[in-house]
Amino acid sequence: CGGFFSLDNLFVLKTINSTNSYCKALAKEGATHETVVIADKQTEGRGRLGREFFSPEGTGLYMSIILKPSEIPLSASLLTIAAGIAVCRTLETSCKSSPLIKWVNDIFINNKKVCGILAESVINATTNQLEYIIVGIGLNVSTPAEIFPGKLKDIAASAFPDVSRNEIAAKIINEFHNIYTSKAITDLIDEYKSYSLVLGKRISFTKDDKTYLGTATELNIDGNLVVTL
Ligand code: BTN
Repeated sequence: CGGFFSLDNLFVLKTINSTNSYCKALAKEGATHETVVIADKQTEGRGRLGREFFSPEGTGLYMSIILKPSEIPLSASLLTIAAGIAVCRTLETSCKSSPLIKWVNDIFINNKKVCGILAESVINATTNQLEYIIVGIGLNVSTPAEIFPGKLKDIAASAFPDVSRNEIAAKIINEFHNIYTSKAITDLIDEYKSYSLVLGKRISFTKDDKTYLGTATELNIDGNLVVTL
């Protein structure tokens, strides 16, 4: 199935602070729906909850995609789910591995995190409308284990040293496009569940500064994890 790629919408950069930040700047200038930014290295790669995303040169895929919510049938939270599935499909076909997703957006192989996804919104300050969603995907492709800093050494890993980043990027983009242009939300939820690392498991989570223990029982139609206390 064909992809959406147009070279007018593709930026490949040597070094940038963060491809998500670069996309935000492009969005403020009125970027086209489905603009893609890929960098060889990020100096301030960002993860969720203000964390850093380690982004050394030449060994990872650091990619952000600008989407206009008005052009797609999925909500922002389902887009993160869709991106997770696109990465998992790519990992399965290109590296014959068995990826699992820790809700909502961390992808693991053999109990080590290989990929994180950060979706961010751009709101128009005048109209207060959601104008763009930026979906950032960071995948450790061939980063050698010994260069992960500090405790990342124990929890992070690389996905597939032998596959080219170009091929991986193209596959993820095409899978993602196929998923978010489809309106089959229940299929999306079912596929996400098949990769879930947490469904049926006891988990702990923090809400309003309190930590709770419960069992992750369901992923609802909005992409929220349902936990039974
Ligand atoms: C996480 O692990 O919490 C999410 C990590 C997301 C990293 C990607 S790399 C491309 C894009 N640019 C960033 O600064 N972050 C995302």
